[in-house]
Amino acid sequence: MGGLKRLEYRGYDSAGVALVVPGAGELATAKKAGKLGNLAEALSAHPLPAATAAIGHTRWATHGAPNDVNAHPHTSSDGKLAVIHNGIVENFIELRAEVEASGITMRSETDTEVVAHLLAAAYARTGDLTAAMREVAARLHGTFTLLAVHADAPDTVVGTRHDSPLVVGLGEGENFLGSDVAAFIAHTREALELGQDQVVTITPADVTVVGFDGLPASPKRYTVDWDAAAAEKGGFPSFMDKEIHDQPQAVHDTLLGRMTAAGRLTLDEIRVDEQVLRQIDKIIVIACGTAAYAGQVAKYAIEHWCRIPVEVELAHEFRYRDPVVNAKTLVVAVSQSGETMDTLMAVRHAREQGATVLAIVNTHGSTIPRESDAVLYTHAGPEVAVASTKAFLAQITAAYLLGLYLAQLRGTKFPDEIAEVIDDLRAMPEKIAKVIADSGRVRQIARWMADTSSVLFLGRHVGYPVAMEGALKLKELAYIHAEGFAAGELKHGPIALIEPGQPVFIIVPSPRGRDSLHSKVVSNIQEIRARGARTLVIAEEGDDAVLPFADEVFFVPQTPTLLAPLVSVVPLQIFACELATARGLDVDQPRNLAKSVTVE
Ligand code: F6R
Repeated sequence: MGGLKRLEYRGYDSAGVALVVPGAGELATAKKAGKLGNLAEALSAHPLPAATAAIGHTRWATHGAPNDVNAHPHTSSDGKLAVIHNGIVENFIELRAEVEASGITMRSETDTEVVAHLLAAAYARTGDLTAAMREVAARLHGTFTLLAVHADAPDTVVGTRHDSPLVVGLGEGENFLGSDVAAFIAHTREALELGQDQVVTITPADVTVVGFDGLPASPKRYTVDWDAAAAEKGGFPSFMDKEIHDQPQAVHDTLLGRMTAAGRLTLDEIRVDEQVLRQIDKIIVIACGTAAYAGQVAKYAIEHWCRIPVEVELAHEFRYRDPVVNAKTLVVAVSQSGETMDTLMAVRHAREQGATVLAIVNTHGSTIPRESDAVLYTHAGPEVAVASTKAFLAQITAAYLLGLYLAQLRGTKFPDEIAEVIDDLRAMPEKIAKVIADSGRVRQIARWMADTSSVLFLGRHVGYPVAMEGALKLKELAYIHAEGFAAGELKHGPIALIEPGQPVFIIVPSPRGRDSLHSKVVSNIQEIRARGARTLVIAEEGDDAVLPFADEVFFVPQTPTLLAPLVSVVPLQIFACELATARGLDVDQPRNLAKSVTVE
């Protein structure tokens, strides 16, 4: 329970444990929806017997509502095998059909329960939990960390991983597995880093690691030099820093299972009648703050791909202006928490007017998806830092999937054009990782600028909402004046703000995109530099045209224009995080703010 407590920030939809009680011939399990405290209460009311091997899990829902039944561990039909799982099994629909065809009735809506049944069948055949795990893991597509115990294998826990973390803690007369060293740091700092596609078997005395092929593997041993508090953050100084680093995974996971290899979108989870989606004549995106900027980015893409007019409106303004909404309107409510009261009220209003409401939300079981007609979840994982980062990238990704899906359904783009964008989207996690890896210079500049009192941000087209998001991050984290403008608007007023030394970030569109836009933004840089501005330019690699006019350039990988926000916003997030840290501020909990704004 101590280990789970330290991992609870990763998910708090439900928690559960399964214990191998020696000689009992069956497992002892307990699981409860909600925070770990609920499980702790249940366990103190009904204590479980003593055991020497156990698995435990805190859940962040991906398949199925956050209730007791969907909580992990999931057990086989005979109750002898239990499994816990992080990640998403992409081919679970086929596997579930196979399990059901063998006569088993599923109890939960999760992808994980399927794994429990498959493991039980493999164990029945082999009598060896490690062999069973190897066999089943090799059949799973997607991302997973799995741990399993069996009542007939006392003192043994078997685990495996694919694109999702699992570390081994080496104790004396005891060993541990955790998705993060935070789980066992109170007991040992000696650890093994498990490689991709490996299976680990631990007993109190031994740790054995093999590949899916059964051949012995040699994982890397290391000593953890973090304290328990840093360990929760994966060794990063703040949750925000960690979540910035989580972004490639957040985009990857949000794409997972929603596109076929042949470049088609498969958003079956949107259970809205296709006929309704074919007939909509307007989309209104409602959201607040960063989520609204994600909506503004998506507007450019959806209008371009689908030829449907898209309005983006702050949720708190929407219902008070008597908006024109009817049965042909698709309202898309974007929210990380799924609890933002302003957005929820706008959802209710839109439905009252007869609109179809689709939620793009990160938190399963939250109110907005429950009150909407359909939901497309972002798979960013829990976002702990108050300032949104990985949820923003995941929201753009999900909204793009929606746009492409509508284009596919309504035939506004050819299949090969859609397939091309899908390929481009698939390449994004690697590009985002590169921006993060190359962030040394932007961090240095941010530290040098810790005393700055005002920063302006300019962008055009999709770079405009990115500029506003960059300004919002700086305001909320560093408490300094920051404003984002459309670069074309400069000459209509804001240019009066430019005086010698004024720092201005400029997000420059790709020179390979629309020519006119690139050259116009480069002209804007010249205009403000001529008036003394200090120009901090975000441009695409190879864009040498900006060099003569930039005091600093932060290059990002070449990316098609519509997808560029997924890389260009990252230096701005890092800049704000680093500058606020240099000012000695708490970036995870900025003053006056809350993670979920549940009041209007
Ligand atoms: C800014 C930020 C907020 C939220 C806004 C909406 O960093 O986090 O602007 O984006 O409060 O919250 P959700 O997405 O939970 O509806």
